[in-house]
Amino acid sequence: MFTPMLLAHCTWPDVERYLERSTGVLIPVGSIEQHGPTALIGTDAICAESIAEAVGVALDAMVAPPIPVGLAEHHMAFAGSMTLRKETFVAVIEDYTSSLYRHGFRRFYFVNGHGGNIGTLNATLKDMNGNKTAPQAAYTFVNWWAGPRTKKLRAAWYGEGEGLHATPSEIAVTQRVNPTATKPARRLEPASTAKTIGTADTYRATYPDGRMGSDPALATPEAGRALIASAVEDIAEHYREFVAR
Ligand code: NI
Repeated sequence: MFTPMLLAHCTWPDVERYLERSTGVLIPVGSIEQHGPTALIGTDAICAESIAEAVGVALDAMVAPPIPVGLAEHHMAFAGSMTLRKETFVAVIEDYTSSLYRHGFRRFYFVNGHGGNIGTLNATLKDMNGNKTAPQAAYTFVNWWAGPRTKKLRAAWYGEGEGLHATPSEIAVTQRVNPTATKPARRLEPASTAKTIGTADTYRATYPDGRMGSDPALATPEAGRALIASAVEDIAEHYREFVAR
């Protein structure tokens, strides 16, 4: 195990030394949006950041400052949610990576915590991979919950109760990272199992308490510990392969 190599906690000579042995960097990307009545608004940001840092620790890899706010227009009818405009989100991705590129970073690996970011991450990184002005650079992302080991745990523990938003898995990770993350004392009413998203207002009308099909009462800090460990294994394997390419 290594100590976390957080860019913001390094000196410039630390970064120069790091670049002599690796051009890879992990960049957490999250969302600040409601996660039902009992879970933290920063759930996606906290998951992405803590898991990216844990991968950094396991591999002695550099972790860039996170992009905490993502694309969450559909959650804006709930207090506290924040969203970037799509063009802002794309510009932030381009500016983070082009800054780091100027110093010699070449393998940009985003650890994503939010389903709503996937389409834009996909399209943006695909464009950037085709960009001839940075021919040695490569960009990719992973959804922390989607690796084979992690998927298996989520299915085995939570089944239907996992739902699509404010899932017990992501809540478990926040409980592990932040012990004050609340666990509901009583079970919530079953959440709507609809799958439509639509506008902020239609989302709130369809999912009145913000959850999509999930049962947050299933989350435990112990499950969070195991989920972080499995996500680190899944992601570390993929990161090593990506950086070696
Ligand atoms: Ni989430």
